[in-house]
Amino acid sequence: MTRIDPILADLLARKGESGLRRTLRPAALVGGGRIERDGREMLDFSSNDYLGLARDPRLVDRACEWASRMGSGSGASRLVTGTHEAHLALEEKIARFKGTEAAMIFASGWQANAAVIPALLAAVPGAVVLTDRLNHASMHAGCNVAGIRQTRFAHNDMAALETLLIQNAEAPARVILTESVFSMDGDRADMAGLVRLAREHDALLYVDEAHATGVLGPKGAGLSATVPGGVDVTMGTFSKALGGFGAYVAGSRTLIDYLVNTSSGFIYTTALPPAVLGAIDAALDLVPDMDGERAHLSALGNRLREGLCARGFDVGASSTQIVPAVIGEAQDALALSARLEELGMIASAIRPPTVPKGTSRLRLALRATHGEEDIDALLDAMGERA
Ligand SMILES: Cc1ncc(COP(=O)(O)O)c(C=O)c1O
Repeated sequence: MTRIDPILADLLARKGESGLRRTLRPAALVGGGRIERDGREMLDFSSNDYLGLARDPRLVDRACEWASRMGSGSGASRLVTGTHEAHLALEEKIARFKGTEAAMIFASGWQANAAVIPALLAAVPGAVVLTDRLNHASMHAGCNVAGIRQTRFAHNDMAALETLLIQNAEAPARVILTESVFSMDGDRADMAGLVRLAREHDALLYVDEAHATGVLGPKGAGLSATVPGGVDVTMGTFSKALGGFGAYVAGSRTLIDYLVNTSSGFIYTTALPPAVLGAIDAALDLVPDMDGERAHLSALGNRLREGLCARGFDVGASSTQIVPAVIGEAQDALALSARLEELGMIASAIRPPTVPKGTSRLRLALRATHGEEDIDALLDAMGERA
C-alpha cells in the first residue's frame, strides 16, 4: 500500500457506485466474427476489425516476413536513424490510396490526433477551433496540448457550424475538426457541406477517418476521397478495418514536411517496427479490391438497424457498420451487455465519459466476416426494448 492508494481506491469505489468503473478482461480474435473469452468462443460485436483482416494470413505472413528480413525494432525515431526505405515506400502507397500528394505514418491514431492538431494550431496563432461535439477523445487531447479552448458545435449541424464561422469571421483563422464516421454513433459527417463551408469561410478542415478508412468511399479510401482536394488534413488508422496497428496523416507535401519538422508525437517517438509496417503494406494491397466485403458489411448494417428499430431500439442516425443501441443509464446498458454475454455474444456497454450522460449504449460493430445468421442471432438475443 503506497500513500496514494487510499485516495485512488476511494475514487475507484465512487466510479463503481455509478456503474462507471472499468476493468480489463482478456480476449482474443479468432476470425469469423468471433472472439475467445474465458475459454469460450463467442460472437463478437465489439471489435473494429471491420473487414476481418486482423487474422488474415496474408497480413500475418507479410508481418513475419518483414520482421525476419528487417528485425523486430526500428532502432530510433524517424528523424534519427529510424526511417527505413519501407517507411518511405509505405507512405507513398498511403498517399496513392488516399489520393493526396503525401502521407506520413504515426504510431497510433490517438497519438496522431494528439500530436498533429497542436502542430497545426501552432501555425495559425489565434485561430478559432470549431469542433463537433462528439469528436473522439484524442482530438480533445490535441486541443488540450495546444492550450486552446474549443468552440463546439452541435453534432453534425452544418447550420450551427456556419453561424459560428460567421461570428468568428474576424478571427485570424478558423479550423474545423471533425470525424467522417462518428465512432460511437456510426453516422457520417456531411462531407460536401463541410467542404463548402470551409471554402466559403476560408477555414481549415481536419477530418479523422479512423472508422471510414477501408470501409467507405471509393475503394475504401474513406469519405474524404468523395470530396477530392476538399479536406486539408486527413488522418486515419490502420488499427480498425485495416487489421493492423498505427495511423496515417495525408495531405499536401508541404503539410507533411511541416509535420515532420514540428509534430512532437512524430519527432520524439520510435518509428513503427517492420512487422507492423508489413501488415499495413499487405492490407493496402488488399483493401482497394474488397468492394464485395464492403457491400456485405453495408447490407449487414441495414439488416441490424431495421431489426433493432422493429424491436423498439433507438439506433440514432447510424448509416454504417457501427450501430448503437442507445439504452440510457449506464447500469441498464451494462445489464443488457451481461445478458448477451450469457448468451455467447460480446456487445460492450459504452458509458460516460465516452458518450454523453444518459446515452449509455451497446455499440454494435459489424464485420464482413459476420453472416446474416449472426445478425439474426443478435437480434433475437436483444429481445424487445421495454
Ligand atoms: C475517431 C477515432 N480517432 C482516433 C482513434 C484512435 O486510434 P488508435 O486506436 O489507432 O489509437 C480512435 C480509436 O479508438 C477513434 O475512434
